[in-house]
Amino acid sequence: MITFILNNNLIKTEAPAGMSLLNFIRNEAGLKGTKSGCKEGDCGACTVLEGMLHNGKVIYKTIVSCLTPLGNAHGKHIVTIEGLNTDDLTPVQQEIVSNAGTQCGFCTPGFVVSLTGYSLGKQAGLKPAAIASVAGNICRCTGYKSIEKAAFKVADLLKDKNRDNDIAWLSEHHFIPEYFKTIAERLSAIGQRDHATAQPDMIVGGGTDLMVQKPGEVKVSALNLTKDIPHLNRIVQRGNKIIMGGSVTVNDLLGSKPLTTAFPKLKTWFKLVSSEQIRNTATLAGNFVNASPIGDMSILFLALEASLTLLTTLGEKRTIQLKDFFLDYKKLDLSEGEIIETIEFELPGKHHFVNFEKVSKRLHLDIASVNSAINVQVKGQTILSASLAAGGIAPVPKYFEKTSDFLTDKPLTMQTLTDAEAVMQEEVSPIGDVRGTVLYKRLLLRQLFFAHFMEMFPKVFTPDVVLPVLKA
Ligand SMILES: Cc1cc2nc3c(=O)[nH]c(=O)nc-3n(C[C@H](O)[C@H](O)[C@H](O)COP(=O)(O)OP(=O)(O)OC[C@H]3O[C@@H](n4cnc5c(N)ncnc54)[C@H](O)[C@@H]3O)c2cc1C
Ligand code: FES
Ligand code: FES
Repeated sequence: MITFILNNNLIKTEAPAGMSLLNFIRNEAGLKGTKSGCKEGDCGACTVLEGMLHNGKVIYKTIVSCLTPLGNAHGKHIVTIEGLNTDDLTPVQQEIVSNAGTQCGFCTPGFVVSLTGYSLGKQAGLKPAAIASVAGNICRCTGYKSIEKAAFKVADLLKDKNRDNDIAWLSEHHFIPEYFKTIAERLSAIGQRDHATAQPDMIVGGGTDLMVQKPGEVKVSALNLTKDIPHLNRIVQRGNKIIMGGSVTVNDLLGSKPLTTAFPKLKTWFKLVSSEQIRNTATLAGNFVNASPIGDMSILFLALEASLTLLTTLGEKRTIQLKDFFLDYKKLDLSEGEIIETIEFELPGKHHFVNFEKVSKRLHLDIASVNSAINVQVKGQTILSASLAAGGIAPVPKYFEKTSDFLTDKPLTMQTLTDAEAVMQEEVSPIGDVRGTVLYKRLLLRQLFFAHFMEMFPKVFTPDVVLPVLKA
């Protein structure tokens, strides 16, 4: 039985856990305000709020309902556009209308839900965050300027939001209906779902990959829904070590103090990973196991020399280096039913420098043509250690063993980088595909390699030093 609150109603359903939440909302609950657009997580027309109880408080996030398996709604508050409506327009709806932010109206429920999600979040009142909150919503009519104006007005209206008691404040200011105040208590009355089916056919995390690739199979399979298993959602620091559960999402990483302290540019890097809705849902384990050669998390954690702890179906654990996990195209060192329980890595020390770069055809909401991450330890003018990874240039997310070894114990000079680049190019043989020809990918790899060092050591590798070599 899947139990959750949909808007102001308690739902108890025997519908398949692998049915999409979107289909449940539109076809079972008969709520047609949530639109079905691309069904691939790209357009945001199906955006809903997902509220989850955390230490007695309901934390709301935006998710795409088309890629959310119904089973992942268990124990949560799901809010569609109908669940935001009151007798008058909410301030978000009013600003969209006043600024001519709607024409045909197909995208509008999604934009309203995303901006309401923003109003419920910690960044409410900040204008860049208002725009970022709708980065996963597409509108083919308005040209976006009017929506941008509406988003800025909403940000102005939220400047004085009471952050300690935001549900009460937002309800008082008509951003959300009164019933939101009752949700925390009502959610606490819903128990945990039995996570593992006796003999599950399929492990599902956020579903952002599986619900695109195999929606039919997910719908009819017995599922092991790992997304909300509490111990898989934690990020723990033990000394210098970070231990993350397999179901930690991209936005969980951004909310982690040890991680944002160790990597001050994490937010800038992850701005290039999908959209707010997908970052709220996509798990690390899902990113590794979908084994895409351009998986952004795979590349970053390869460079951080992460290891995985896997739990077998017999309850036994084994540990493996992430770089040994990827065997060949979509082939992994992972047995049937094995779960990625944790991902661990050492926090970079004092003399470590880490960088991530991604180039895609479109800056936002696009997968990489080539991406790369590096972790170097430099003392004085010497590279003491290096770990380099890149995606889009091999059948697997690639760890550059030889190039990393080559860089070790070398002086931090342009000559070292030039020689290392030659080793790096030897270490791969990319194939051409829709994201670029072989030559283009090699060129991108080279640019990203030098970009890492310009970013990490801007005083050593100035454009005057690097550009003549790149042009040569
Ligand atoms: C619109 C959109 C944009 C995207 N943009 C990006 C992007 O910018 N960068 C990027 O890297 N990726 C991107 N992705 C790809 C994908 O969403 C991510 O790779 C995501 O991390 C997959 O995680 P998930 O939990 O949703 O996976 P799921 O779909 O739940 O699962 C994927 C695979 O992982 C397995 N799995 C899940 N959890 C576990 C576990 N704990 N143990 C063992 N196996 C497990 C599943 O069985 C399945 O085989 C995008 C996807 C969409 C739809
Ligand atoms: S229908 Fe397009 S993101 Fe869900
Ligand atoms: S108003 Fe038509 S798609 Fe946005």
